Amino acid sequence: MSMETTAWHALYSTRFAQQDKRPFSRATLVRILRFARGHRRSLLAFLGFSSALALLTVATPLLAGRVVNAITGGAAVRTVVVLSSVIALIAVAEAATGLLTRWLSARIGEGLILDLRTAVYDHVQRLPVAFFTRTRTGALVSRLNNDVIGAQRAFSNTLSQVVSNLVTLLATLVVMLQLSWQITLLTLALLPLFVLPARRMGARFARLERERADHNAAMGNQMTERFSAPGATLVKLFGRPEEESAEFARRAGRVRDIGIRTAMVQHLFISSLTLVSALALALVYGLGGYYALRGTLDPGTVVSLALLLTRLYAPLTSLAGARVEVMSALVSFQRVFEVLDLKPLIDEKPDAVPVPEGPVSVEFDDVRFAYPSAEKVSLASLEDVATLDTRGGEEVLHGVSFRAEPGAMVALVGSSGAGKSTVASLAPRLYDADSGTVRIGGTDVRDVTAESLRRTLGMVTQDGHLFHETIRANLLLPRPEATDDELWDALRRARLDGLIATLPEGLDTVVGERGYRLSGGERQRLTIARLLLAQPRVVILDEATAHLDSTSEAAVQEALAEALAGRTSVVIAHRLSTVRAADLILVLESGRIVERGTHEELLALGGRYEQLYRTQFSERPPLPAEEEAAVPGLR
Ligand SMILES: Nc1ncnc2c1ncn2[C@@H]1O[C@H](COP(=O)(O)OP(=O)(O)OP(=O)(O)O)[C@@H](O)[C@H]1O
Ligand SMILES: [Mg+2]
Repeated sequence: MSMETTAWHALYSTRFAQQDKRPFSRATLVRILRFARGHRRSLLAFLGFSSALALLTVATPLLAGRVVNAITGGAAVRTVVVLSSVIALIAVAEAATGLLTRWLSARIGEGLILDLRTAVYDHVQRLPVAFFTRTRTGALVSRLNNDVIGAQRAFSNTLSQVVSNLVTLLATLVVMLQLSWQITLLTLALLPLFVLPARRMGARFARLERERADHNAAMGNQMTERFSAPGATLVKLFGRPEEESAEFARRAGRVRDIGIRTAMVQHLFISSLTLVSALALALVYGLGGYYALRGTLDPGTVVSLALLLTRLYAPLTSLAGARVEVMSALVSFQRVFEVLDLKPLIDEKPDAVPVPEGPVSVEFDDVRFAYPSAEKVSLASLEDVATLDTRGGEEVLHGVSFRAEPGAMVALVGSSGAGKSTVASLAPRLYDADSGTVRIGGTDVRDVTAESLRRTLGMVTQDGHLFHETIRANLLLPRPEATDDELWDALRRARLDGLIATLPEGLDTVVGERGYRLSGGERQRLTIARLLLAQPRVVILDEATAHLDSTSEAAVQEALAEALAGRTSVVIAHRLSTVRAADLILVLESGRIVERGTHEELLALGGRYEQLYRTQFSERPPLPAEEEAAVPGLR
């Protein structure tokens, strides 16, 4: 690295200077060391080789001085040849050591990235759903990318720079002082000329950099928000495109201005460094030449001093920025540790048991539940706000009890916001109840293994999410080993085989966010096909609220009949046909079960169910297909 770029790098890194002022505890350092421990051998070898490399760089200027003395002193040709051969050998050794240290530092750095990334990914995957409902995906992904990389910089770049710069600096200074302490001290006296203005420029640069980062982030947000299909639609319907464009242009303009200013600050910095070192060099030549003419210094020493000088300024400026660089790396470590420290609220017990074999019941026993408050599950820095909102924690379910017998179907009805989806999310342990018990096959869900719970229980959520992957990959999620025949069988039973067969790429068609757009009903049937493939013993189904056209509705209905046949099921029902087929209907209002019974019983009761029946389920007469599909299939 040339002197200019090293020094520039030092200045550049000051942008982190005021970023974060949290004190670093010993515990953080200990943790970092624990991560580094796996690379201990490489680290030691690396430090040894970088020191050797630094020492080698001092040797060449000294030998060059000897060559000059040999020439001026009229020594034998042999001496010059030997000296220059040694210089050549050192150059080769330098190149080889350089290669080795680079390899070692890359190994350590990339190895550390690997360790941290896998640790964070692993951990984040185990965090509760509540965490993801509060976190901005972008912020989280940036932790995994930027901060992890920032953290490894401490080990590869900073560490190597500090070590090799210190060794270079010390060796160079010692040698220079020995050659001529007067000249050395004088050249060092020039240093403040450069360092003081550089500090001020550094502060200015840091301010500009931060402002630029803010503007870039704001523009990025504006683009991702507005350029998504729903965002773009919203702007077309209600937005003010001219004002949005103007705001965007204002920020982009500011980024341009900052870009120009930064370029100038950068140039000023580098040219002032070049100037100061050129002045110092002139001083060495002038003063050294004067001493040489007076005979107190030989010409070779002047050459050695001049060559050494060029290796003095770079480590000095670089070390000036090292503290800042170390701090920024520590900040990155701390931000990574912050994520690793989030507690997975829902975890498997060490003595967890598998769910009992055979048909199982699902049972809620006086279950109370409040969505966890923000500080329990999240980090303010991962949400969109500066401080965590303190809301939440209000009880949503107030003592819900019911039992779905093995093989029976329980329907959950109630107005929007009553807590139906919440009830559904407790069985697969997306959340845990605050008090009371959720049992599956008679065992508390908190006592069973996560793997057996996943295998026993299948859930279709209200939004029926699909990954942006092929239909095949989406279907294979619960059973990666399923054959194509099994896939087609599931698709057939979900009444989706006809459609998929007509797609040009069949099972390899990409669906999800930006792929082939499936209609609401088709999407639902695909999630049902996934469920059929998984063959769970218990099905939790959150029916989509969106009304489907009559053909899709009938198809979904048939698919559901297939999915629920012979299984214990809890269905959040928005369709009359589903409700009528249920063995037990629960009416949930404001987190409490207010009525329970069969369709006929509840209608006869003339209460909340009858009201719901009239408003929610019977806006239109039931379709014949609905009735047909429901009755034989579901019972
Ligand atoms: N992640 C969450 N964090 C905090 N509160 C939530 C969360 N999800 C839902 N709620 C609240 O819990 C209550 C019950 O919501 P739930 O989604 O269970 O209703 P629902 O009966 O499924 O309604 P719908 O029929 O509209 O789907 C609502 O008041 C809702 O605002
Ligand atoms: Mg819901």
